[in-house]
Amino acid sequence: MCGIVGYIGDKQAYKIVIDGLKRLEYRGYDSSGIALFDSRLSVCKTKGKVEGLVNKAEKEISLDGNVGIGHTRWATHGEPNDVNAHPIISNNKSLVIVHNGIIENYATIKDELISKGYIFKSDTDTEVLVNLIEYVQLTEKVKLGKAVQLALTQVVGAYAIAVFDKKKPDEIVVARLGSPLAIGIGENEMFIGSDVTPFLNFTRKVIYLEEGQVGVLRNHKETKFYNVENDSIISPTIENLKLELSEIEKGGFDHFMLKEINEQPKAIIDTLRGRLKLNQGIIKLSGIDNNINAFTSANKITIIGCGTSWHAGLVGEYIFEHISRIPVEVEYASEFRYRNPIINQNDIVIAISQSGETADTLAAMKLAKERGAFVFGICNVVGSSITRLSHSGSYTHAGPEIGVASTKAFTTQITVLYLMALKIAKSKGVISKSVFNKYLGELNLIPKKIEIALNLNDKIEKIAEAIKDSKNCLYLGRGFNFPVALEGALKLKEISYIHAEGYPAAEMKHGPIALIDENMPTVVIATSKGHYEKVVSNIREIQSRKGKIIAIVTEGDKDVKEIADHYIEVPETIEPLTPLLTTIPLQLLSYHIAVKLGKNVDQPRNLAKSVTVE
Ligand code: F6R
Repeated sequence: MCGIVGYIGDKQAYKIVIDGLKRLEYRGYDSSGIALFDSRLSVCKTKGKVEGLVNKAEKEISLDGNVGIGHTRWATHGEPNDVNAHPIISNNKSLVIVHNGIIENYATIKDELISKGYIFKSDTDTEVLVNLIEYVQLTEKVKLGKAVQLALTQVVGAYAIAVFDKKKPDEIVVARLGSPLAIGIGENEMFIGSDVTPFLNFTRKVIYLEEGQVGVLRNHKETKFYNVENDSIISPTIENLKLELSEIEKGGFDHFMLKEINEQPKAIIDTLRGRLKLNQGIIKLSGIDNNINAFTSANKITIIGCGTSWHAGLVGEYIFEHISRIPVEVEYASEFRYRNPIINQNDIVIAISQSGETADTLAAMKLAKERGAFVFGICNVVGSSITRLSHSGSYTHAGPEIGVASTKAFTTQITVLYLMALKIAKSKGVISKSVFNKYLGELNLIPKKIEIALNLNDKIEKIAEAIKDSKNCLYLGRGFNFPVALEGALKLKEISYIHAEGYPAAEMKHGPIALIDENMPTVVIATSKGHYEKVVSNIREIQSRKGKIIAIVTEGDKDVKEIADHYIEVPETIEPLTPLLTTIPLQLLSYHIAVKLGKNVDQPRNLAKSVTVE
């Protein structure tokens, strides 16, 4: 977690770093800070968001200087306060660092440095790292780049760092292992970001620093890259960015989350573009095409992910088993990585991630690869670590997702899983041509149907008003819509802080029914396809205990509409595709409840968009 930004060039660094930090706030917002060098080093940092940093910096420090680094923090070591905020200065006050990641062996290194006379003011692992670099620099009498490289060979953990020396402020040294770092190349200027958004309006040329690499970025002089482990010089690939600035702005919506919910028809169209060939009755997915034998001969597929991506994986389980007849297991990446998973030859592991940087998912993928699995990534962020670690994969093309609560990533992940399942089923010969074509046709209609669901916004806002003061909420679904119930509950709790639980509807009587009373609303997904009568019975069980029902039903429904306290009608589709429609009202419901409760929808407390630590 955490976002880091840096600049070295001819322009004023302050504005570039601050604007960059604002773009990276989705990565954490416990504290923020900036270090600038003009004729002297100025550092300003504060608990809380970048807005607070701007107020403080403009009063307290000189904003001049063409070199700067900045940080927005999601706290791991030490509480979020001014002292623990980055940038952090070394003991001799010469080096200044920003860091995203965790140094796992920091306590051992700290003890050694204390024995050498070093003093520590913060609780952070980062202060240990910057002092280790200083110590190496002084004892080995080497330049900063070499000191960073040598120091990092002693470090266990994850890092993306930017560090400079006020005695030699014509270079910033960067390095990464496990946490992302992108370098923008301008005319006589270099930009640094945890992703590319801080420098999108300055340059299109980017280097994604690879694992275990160090870069010495210099203005007007040669920039060098080399490996941490063996010091060998490397020539990184310069890529051209396709992302547009407008894609990362709010575009007239009050919040990124609302914008992203409304972008889902387009996100799905973009995900299908060039892949769904309706007239020819084929699906093109190069990641599968090039490895079709691995998929058709797979004995088992294990899907790994975290949070919402894990929920997409659960929908994928239903889809794969229904359409391609391959056994599927879905695992939290954080559990998978610490089990002793049984991976047999011909097994496939699918890793799902919006950001492509989730530490648990990355570690689980590494383990799966070590055990011999073919690892396929479904990812949204182009060039992210997960895409590079996969043997093959498919992008979701949802566009940048900035709101911390994941929305369009979920529906596009399901879209890719559905395409994959159909394609594999066709190659295995387990689906008839007519069913295949029907399923393709239904998928093609989904973006329009999502638009219809989005038009229910005003009605959903009224329902939000009616239930916003509840302290708890239950979400129920069956079959393909059981994971949607889990996802609906996650969306509500993460942005409104209302306690919510998702359950398979039939499980209710095995425990959760004890919670039902007149103050406990239950959101039930009761679409016409998928055990409708059984869900109706579940609704009656809740009502006989005075529970309030908000039902998501199919257009034309009669029975549930009559008995529910509130209902929301979504268009009809085939059962495997219902999650793409039933999810929409649940996202809008959470959004409106959170807004009505005055919560920060895009940056909920304690969370960050990309969880790059364990
Ligand atoms: C929920 C949410 C998180 C993420 C999870 C995985 O709205 O955003 O639960 O889904 O942290 O992140 P990715 O998909 O980036 O691996």
